[in-house]
Amino acid sequence: MTNSMNPDTAAAPALTQDQLKTLVGQAALNYVVPGDIVGVGTGSTVNKFIDALATMKDQIKGAVSSSVASTERLLALGIPVFDSNDVSRLSVYIDGADEIDGHGNMVKGGGAALTREKIVAAQSDRFVCIADESKLVKTLGVFPLPVEVIPMATRRVMAQFVAKGGDAKLRLKDGRPLVTDNGQHIVDVTGLQITDPLAFEAEVSQWPGVVTVGVFAFQRAQVCLLGTASGVKTLTF
Ligand code: 5RP
Repeated sequence: MTNSMNPDTAAAPALTQDQLKTLVGQAALNYVVPGDIVGVGTGSTVNKFIDALATMKDQIKGAVSSSVASTERLLALGIPVFDSNDVSRLSVYIDGADEIDGHGNMVKGGGAALTREKIVAAQSDRFVCIADESKLVKTLGVFPLPVEVIPMATRRVMAQFVAKGGDAKLRLKDGRPLVTDNGQHIVDVTGLQITDPLAFEAEVSQWPGVVTVGVFAFQRAQVCLLGTASGVKTLTF
């Protein structure tokens, strides 16, 4: 008896998180409507989608992008980027998530692009979320909730989250407050259990100084392409 494995019966090595992201990024191409402009999100999973989209760039008009980073990647690959104001509706918006629940509600903004992501999602007929299975949760609130705030309201907004039982921290970059593409700050909130995402999003969105809360319930996903050990699983909501 030896330790060597029979190649016919050996289990395939588990896919890395990076490979799962590549798989779902490629699978999202099936939702791109030829001849259309595509809504494009932000993040490491979306970067895989953008790379895949480049293989069919001659079949689409271009993209509306949700961040400076995605715009730069799209343009570098020869995909035209349109201003969202010049496009009335998008057939599909493809984006990642920090968390997604069993109803398609999400927490987003880990990449600080939540405001533009919500805008492009709102002008799209369908939100297709691409994520690896670590992002699927029963109740939103495990991942720190990003909230984009106008700097002069930061302390007040943080205190309001503390009053709700959360713990709020200003996001830093290189020791300084991170500044978003919109010139604002990000507060990350832990310790929340978001059991009613619609009510939570409606409430926090009205607090003075909140630009965007990272709960996407009004702009929830209709489809999630989830990268799992056994391949891409399609969830529909
Ligand atoms: C950026 C986002 C991203 O979609 C989210 O953070 C997931 O990113 P990744 O694909 O890198 O895990 O909301 O603001």
